[in-house]
Amino acid sequence: MAKITMTVNGRQVSGMCDDRTLLVHFIRENLGLTGTHVGCETSQCGACVIHMDGLSVKSCSILAVQAAGSSITTIEGLAKDSELHPVQAAFKAHHGLQCGFCTPGMVMTAVDMIARHGSSLDEATVRAELEGNICRCTGYHNIVKAILAAAAEMGGLRQAAAE
Ligand code: FES
Ligand code: FES
Repeated sequence: MAKITMTVNGRQVSGMCDDRTLLVHFIRENLGLTGTHVGCETSQCGACVIHMDGLSVKSCSILAVQAAGSSITTIEGLAKDSELHPVQAAFKAHHGLQCGFCTPGMVMTAVDMIARHGSSLDEATVRAELEGNICRCTGYHNIVKAILAAAAEMGGLRQAAAE
């Protein structure tokens, strides 16, 4: 067992876990943040994507002890004061979800994608970068539409803030 401390959604948290505990299980079971889903545990489905020190990571692919000292953002950390993050709002507006199981991972991947590409993000890039996120409901068309809409919206927001 090890005691680990990390920052999760802006709050410092500590907990005990086995050396072999995956980060996704620490997030869900120790911290009670069940918005991060477990689909495969083998780094294939992307349901468990979180941000670690600003980059998207499949939280089933690393150990909790490896994340000690890092800054983690989960899906619960995106909305501010009950206002949806623009990517969450775009998924809602463009029907980018059906059962919703893949949605937290899709949204976290999309936020990272938009942070790297901005409003220049295009459809081919979205489809290529979603390779690691599987939607069993096969709702990819609207997921791609939602991500492109969010990229355009967030680019516009950035430009308005700069003016
Ligand atoms: S649960 Fe992590 S990629 Fe599927
Ligand atoms: S919305 Fe059901 S798995 Fe994607």
